[in-house]
Amino acid sequence: MMQTPLPRYNVQQTYDWNYAHPPAAPDYQEVRFPGEWDFCGLQVNGPLGIAAGPLLNGAWCRYYAALGWSVLTYKTVRSSARACYPPPNLVPVACGMLRGDETEVQQAREMEGTWAVSFGMPSQPPDVWRADVERTRRALRPGQVLVVSVVGTVQPGWDVDDLAADYARCARWAMESGADAVEANFSCPNVPTCDGQLYQQPEQAAAVAAVLRETVGRLPLIIKVGFLGSDEKIEQLLEALAPWADALSMTNSVALPVRGQDGRLMFEGQKRGICGEAIFEASLEQVRRAAQIVKRRSFALHLIGVGGVFTVHHLQAYLQAGAQSVQCATAAMLVPDLVQRIRAEWPER
Ligand SMILES: Cc1cc2nc3c(=O)[nH]c(=O)nc-3n(C[C@H](O)[C@H](O)[C@H](O)COP(=O)(O)O)c2cc1C
Repeated sequence: MMQTPLPRYNVQQTYDWNYAHPPAAPDYQEVRFPGEWDFCGLQVNGPLGIAAGPLLNGAWCRYYAALGWSVLTYKTVRSSARACYPPPNLVPVACGMLRGDETEVQQAREMEGTWAVSFGMPSQPPDVWRADVERTRRALRPGQVLVVSVVGTVQPGWDVDDLAADYARCARWAMESGADAVEANFSCPNVPTCDGQLYQQPEQAAAVAAVLRETVGRLPLIIKVGFLGSDEKIEQLLEALAPWADALSMTNSVALPVRGQDGRLMFEGQKRGICGEAIFEASLEQVRRAAQIVKRRSFALHLIGVGGVFTVHHLQAYLQAGAQSVQCATAAMLVPDLVQRIRAEWPER
């Protein structure tokens, strides 16, 4: 019998359209992996969750929650409303596995697993997302957690303390709305200002993380970071963040300019975050190196592996590399019930 495909993110449409057209949640299906799984100290049904991105609002969270995902990250929000970049927001690209030292990628005709993301971290006004988070948290089941991703929004003349206060404002609101954990995005590859690039400045990153820790108290605090490239940079960042964060989530894509099919650079030559299959090896390698440093330096940090997870083998590779938890964005947008498919291939013991 032919199965009707599950509704999913409509890549022919804009972010705004998708925000306004979430699929209706089906009946809840629990997806429990054998054994005990914890996400930053919270008990969850399995090791695989959804990274910040696909879950544009509470209705999208509730759709994926009903399909059995246990860790749901509410897409990054801000302290004031922000529009999405103009379309195209998702551009398929053709490339092999990226190492991080490439200079550009080429636009592809069809999506084959990798795309450039050009959203610019849009946000609803705080009163909208705060009420939405509250409603969403109430709809989750035991073994499911809601992470809210936040970012500070730099204003002209601000220093790092102002930026930290803005991050903290969002984190406090997320916490008051019932978030089980707060994720602070220190890396947005398509936002060139320092709110998108904190992960490359360990000292400033530590200053913001310290204020966030003070704000959220004992609530799990996750910091999302980008591709770093060298052991030295990874170690510097881990050292800076270990006193404040419970976990680091890596990586938030590989940032590269995109050459369009007409031969010209798209997005005025600015970099965009390349997400999906092509970043699997580079992200996995970064997790492996980070895990070795965490062990050697005895840092109390969990690692969340993100990047190019499409199969049970990818999930297992991240766990073996030292991640405590794994998340996907691209694959979950293309295959909303991926968690059920991966669970079906997971060994029973
Ligand atoms: C459509 C889309 C939107 C995204 N938006 C965010 C975001 O708002 N905040 C964030 O921290 N990461 C964002 N990301 C990055 C993902 O969380 C993830 O780090 C990246 O896509 C790599 O995972 P993947 O290969 O499974 O897609 C986004 C990714 C995609 C595909």
